[in-house]
Amino acid sequence: MGDPCAGMSLGALLRGWRERALLTQEQLAERACLNVRTVRRMESGALLRPRVTSMLLLAEALELNGADRATLNAAAHGRPGPAVAGPPPVTVPRQLPADVAALAGRDRELAVVEGHRSAHTVPVVCVNGMAGIGKTALAVHAAHRLAPLYPDGQLFVDLRGHAPKAPVEPGTALARVLRTLGVPGEHIPWHPDDRAALYRSVLAGRKVLIVLDDAADEHQLLPLLPAGPGCLVIVTSRRRLTCHGDARGLSLDVLPVTAGIALFTRLAGLDRRAPADVLAEVVRRCGLLPLAIRIAAARLRARPAWGVRHLLDRLACDRLAELADGPHSVAAALDRSYDRLPDEQRRVYRLLGSGGRAGFGADTAAALLDTSMPRARRLLDQLMDAHLLQETSPCWYRMHDLVHDHAAAL
Ligand SMILES: Nc1ncnc2c1ncn2[C@@H]1O[C@H](COP(=O)(O)OP(=O)(O)OP(=O)(O)O)[C@@H](O)[C@H]1O
Ligand SMILES: [Mg+2]
Repeated sequence: MGDPCAGMSLGALLRGWRERALLTQEQLAERACLNVRTVRRMESGALLRPRVTSMLLLAEALELNGADRATLNAAAHGRPGPAVAGPPPVTVPRQLPADVAALAGRDRELAVVEGHRSAHTVPVVCVNGMAGIGKTALAVHAAHRLAPLYPDGQLFVDLRGHAPKAPVEPGTALARVLRTLGVPGEHIPWHPDDRAALYRSVLAGRKVLIVLDDAADEHQLLPLLPAGPGCLVIVTSRRRLTCHGDARGLSLDVLPVTAGIALFTRLAGLDRRAPADVLAEVVRRCGLLPLAIRIAAARLRARPAWGVRHLLDRLACDRLAELADGPHSVAAALDRSYDRLPDEQRRVYRLLGSGGRAGFGADTAAALLDTSMPRARRLLDQLMDAHLLQETSPCWYRMHDLVHDHAAAL
């Protein structure tokens, strides 16, 4: 492919590169330490013999690569541009990971994600819930189904909000996404705000579906939201996030028992003769949590000598130790939620683990934490935002069974 800029006038080249970098004439002049009149005259074609140093400064300010610099020089000397290779062809991004074979028990939630639209601004669905509840599985499944409506591509960005490593910086995520969208590395601005502005410009008028997986917080998320109504964003997070605009929050609960059994038997490769009451008890012992059910099923499948009853006996002893299979472990997933808490909330979490499993009121929590009721409520609210605690009715709280095991062990 030839250089699309070859043969263009100096003014047209400069204007094109400046607009691509989202700079005004004043901003470009300031960056290049040139008089704004010089930039204006160059762009309008009034300055026919620009100085070599001016051209160098402009090339630096526009962060032009070698090929673009050659084109600029040729245009400044009134010659046709060199025949250099153009940018590589941009492929439409199709980044969604593989879908789950069959999504169990999420029909209502799927309808919410698929039905969220906005006429004026970008529609955003924030799927939140505790570790391993199936946020990513739901988001990816919905995205596969919606993909035909977004012909300009589907992006999947793992923000690693609760991964062992630190969360991805928004500027780093933006740079990666911009490259995926066809912006050459040398044209990606240095400042994160400029990257976010360029990202919104590139996405304006495009129909792209964007999955932002495992967001840590709003600070990380907001720069990655496009502006126009043509895109759809599905966010997943262990935290309840506040998104402005047309955002729809969707909190995932544990699976219904029947869906849990269906998932377990399918993954364990069991036939229908397994006793229903034992299966129901197994999935209950897994807290109806998809991650736990998946691990239990994988363990049973890998050990032909075990029966479902034997698995149930094992789950009755040290559940968290049993719910680990290679790199997958419920305790490790919960560790990462705990690690992200500030010190004070960690202390509250451990203290609640020392209490009973049944629900408790704000007054009990205040006594246990040795603090006032309003402060206890605030602290409990913060744990609820991290999905480590549930409010089953006003001011009545409960920890999920596996979360309680985890907090108690700490
Ligand atoms: N409804 C479901 N049907 C079938 N499989 C599911 C379902 N929900 C989750 N899973 C499976 O359970 C496991 C955990 O789910 P997932 O990774 O989506 O949880 P998550 O909420 O995103 O966890 P994390 O907070 O760690 O990111 C995955 O293997 C996933 O494929
Ligand atoms: Mg996830």
